[in-house]
Amino acid sequence: MKILLIGAAGTVGSAIETELGQRHDLVRAGRSNVDVQVDIADPASIRDLYRHVGKLDAVICAAGSVVFKPLAEMAPADFELGLRDKLMGQVNLVLLGQEVLNEGGSFTLTTGILSQSPIASGASASLVNGAVDAFVRSAAIELPRGLRINSVSPTVLVEALSTYGSYFRGFKAVPGAEVALAYSRSVEGRQTGQNYQVGY
Ligand SMILES: NC(=O)c1ccc[n+]([C@@H]2O[C@H](COP(=O)([O-])OP(=O)(O)OC[C@H]3O[C@@H](n4cnc5c(N)ncnc54)[C@H](OP(=O)(O)O)[C@@H]3O)[C@@H](O)[C@H]2O)c1
Repeated sequence: MKILLIGAAGTVGSAIETELGQRHDLVRAGRSNVDVQVDIADPASIRDLYRHVGKLDAVICAAGSVVFKPLAEMAPADFELGLRDKLMGQVNLVLLGQEVLNEGGSFTLTTGILSQSPIASGASASLVNGAVDAFVRSAAIELPRGLRINSVSPTVLVEALSTYGSYFRGFKAVPGAEVALAYSRSVEGRQTGQNYQVGY
């Protein structure tokens, strides 16, 4: 398969590349250290990306930012970053990518455990993860030509503990290699409308 992997240089993206890169042709996209640059927060940039890469069998997004801050300190603009980037960035990848996916192709988006299990400073992440998971269930019943869509919702990764560990006290971390298997199930399996929870 020819697979577009957005966020390929990141923690989750690298684990996906290790798993799927063994047997598929990956186009590595993101903001830096990639084959093709894209900013998913900008619909024009997404259009350019799809024009550049041509026909695909799968699109995986492992990119998307939100602000982590105590709720009392969150300003409207802090929420807007997550809405523009991790939420609408991923929604727009689907809206603008339907035409470039071959029949039966798939979208796999990334959410996270905070939609189900809140932590302090995680309100924006919880909001956006829940919205993306709901979008996936809804889009699955409307996508044309047998196109599929799923999300992967991991707990914190072992490889990210040095950055996020203090936010996730008491959570069991999961190795990136295990998270990558959920992307494999989404891309190489047949299911649609699933939110694959990993490490809950
Ligand atoms: N790490 C975890 O433990 C964990 C757990 C659950 C869910 N998640 C979710 O998984 C996703 C990836 O997390 P991660 O930890 O792998 O992050 P990361 O290590 O920071 O990697 C994210 C990658 O995506 C790129 N990127 C960020 N914003 C982008 C944009 N607007 N357009 C294009 N590329 C963009 C980054 O490029 P630059 O480096 O150039 O900015 C980076 O290469 C996020 O949605 C995160 O919430 C992560």
